[in-house]
Order: sequence, then C-alpha cells, then structure tokens
Amino acid sequence: MKRVLVTGAGGLLGSYIMRQASAQKGLEAVGTTRTGQGGLKMDLTSNGDISSVMSSVSPDIVINTASLTNVDYCEGHRREALAINAEGPRIIADECKKLGAKLIQISTDYVFDGKRGMYTEADSPGPVNYYGKTKLEAEKAVEQSGTGYLIVRPAIIYGWGTTGPLTTSPTITSPVGTTSAAGVRRPNYVTWLIETVSSGQKARIFDQYNSPTFAGSLAEGLLKALGSEGLYHLAGPERISRYDFALRVADKFNLAKGLIAPARDNTFAKAARPHDSSLDVSKAWKDLGIRLLTVDEGLKMMKKEFDERKK
Ligand SMILES: NC(=O)c1ccc[n+]([C@@H]2O[C@H](COP(=O)([O-])OP(=O)(O)OC[C@H]3O[C@@H](n4cnc5c(N)ncnc54)[C@H](OP(=O)(O)O)[C@@H]3O)[C@@H](O)[C@H]2O)c1
Repeated sequence: MKRVLVTGAGGLLGSYIMRQASAQKGLEAVGTTRTGQGGLKMDLTSNGDISSVMSSVSPDIVINTASLTNVDYCEGHRREALAINAEGPRIIADECKKLGAKLIQISTDYVFDGKRGMYTEADSPGPVNYYGKTKLEAEKAVEQSGTGYLIVRPAIIYGWGTTGPLTTSPTITSPVGTTSAAGVRRPNYVTWLIETVSSGQKARIFDQYNSPTFAGSLAEGLLKALGSEGLYHLAGPERISRYDFALRVADKFNLAKGLIAPARDNTFAKAARPHDSSLDVSKAWKDLGIRLLTVDEGLKMMKKEFDERKK
C-alpha cells in the first residue's frame, strides 16, 4: 500500500486527484488544505504545519498541487506568492528527503516567455510574470533538494472541481468551480466562461495560445506516473487560442457565441502573459505512455459530469 499525500486537496486539480486516488487499489490518499477544512491543515507558509503533517503522515509520495494560482494577484503580492509557490515546495522537498519520500511538484507552462510556443522540456524557461518566476523557483528548489522528484508542467487546467455554491446563472444549475476554504468560489477558465456568458455578460478573451488540460485527465496521468521521475510536460495535446477554445466550450454548453469577444491586447490584466505557452507533450507519451485528453474529449467529460450532477 502506497501512501500519497495530496496538498491543495480542495483545489481544482487536488480534488480530482483525491477522488481518483481514493478509488484506486493499493493507494491510500491523504489530503491537506490551507485551513484544515476538508483535510489535514497544512498552510504552505507555515514550516510547523509542513513538518508536523509530513512526520505524522509519513507519505511515500507527496503530490504538491497547492499554489497561489491567481496570476494577477501574485504580481501585486510578491512576498506571499514567493512564500507559497517557491518556499513552501522547498520545505516540502527537504521534508521528503528526510523521509525518503518522492515529491511530485505541479509547475506550469507560465515558466516560458511565450515568444515561440510548443516548448519541449529541453527549452529554457524565461517567465514574464511573477507567478511564473515563483513556479520556476520551486522547480529549481525541488531539483536541488536531493529527493526523488517528478516535475510536471500542465497548462490552463479546467474542470468542475469540488462542489461549490450553486451558480446564479439561469441556464447552469450545477455547482461551478472550486470553493476556497474561505468560501470564495474560484472559477477556472471554462467555468468562468460558462457563468459569464450564460448570465448574459460579454466575455473578453485574452489573445493567447496554450495547451488546455482537463483536470480529470491530468489527475489520471499523475496517478499513472507515480513511479516516474524527471521533468515532463503533462498537458492537453493541442495548441489552441483561448478564443477558439472558448468557441468549443460554447458549442458544448450551448452558449451564445456573440457574447464571446477576442481582446485585441491583454493590457486589461495586471500581469503580463506569455503569448504562446503551448507545450510539446511528446516526451510524456514516448517515455511514460501518457497522453492526456484533447479539448473535445475533455469538454465531453465535463459535460458528462455536469449532466450527472444535474440528475
Ligand atoms: N489553473 C491553471 O490553469 C494552471 C495552469 C498551469 C499550472 N497550474 C498549477 O497546477 C496546480 C493546481 O492548480 P489548480 O488549478 O488546482 O489551482 P487551485 O484550484 O487554485 O488550487 C490551489 C489550491 O492551493 C491552495 N492554497 C493556496 N494557498 C495555500 C497555502 N498558503 N497553503 C496551502 N494551500 C494553499 C488553495 O487553497 P485555498 O482555496 O484555501 O486558498 C487551493 O485549494 C498549481 O500548482 C498551479 O500552479 C494551474
């Protein structure tokens, strides 16, 4: 029996991992959350929390999904972002080393500058915003820690996540997005789009290309990769613009496409964004035999989950 500790268990990716790991034979999944609501309390800014959870649980593997993921917030709250996104993983890695545990660190496509796209693991990172810088710092800390590690870079993760409050949307009657321990609903790109458009508001879409990653598929990929080590791009296999992705969401969830407008620039956002942070995922396929769902496959799964929740 392998014991897997999942940080950020109430977040979008963490909640999918918890659900799937709990159903998998030979795995015992223990989740942690920032406040202790819905899991053991492990605030990544608290060395005490990290070391006491690590020594009491004594995991074989830690999957660190916890992170400050709001890119614009990170730009304006740098000390907090660095503490959670870089210092926390460094301490977790040191604790893993002491226990002989392996660390799976979830990184991001935002470590790249976005000038070229279709980045491979051999390409040099060059983050254009503070969030990306903190995530890259975490990668370096994990690599240098001396513990066994797997670093995974997904991109624009979407899915339903945990059960949040009911949306006020007239057409969507299911919980949308994840709810933070503070009770604040945190939408992801797809749930934000569905909520915005179905409540009659216009959605302005960033001019950006990337590799959308369905959270359920990423969770499945991570659980398959538990025994692997190294650095891998684990994301959806398609390079697509956010605008085209939005149109596919509109098709699947029957949204008014007239309310979806491409923005000519991204200057309405606080932090800079990489223009094309799409990822080449062929190494994960070649080495690990892992290929995540395409946009259409991922949205189909999301629609299926939505229809099941409505019943
Ligand atoms: N979302 C994306 O598009 C995307 C793209 C590429 C990579 N990633 C990476 O993928 C991972 C998972 O992302 P996600 O979409 O699942 O994010 P998410 O839904 O925002 O979940 C992140 C979790 O981290 C927790 N957290 C925040 N501050 C914490 C702290 N101080 N101590 C402990 N936990 C804390 C949050 O808890 P609270 O709710 O209580 O604050 C939340 O449950 C992250 O590492 C992220 O950087 C995400």
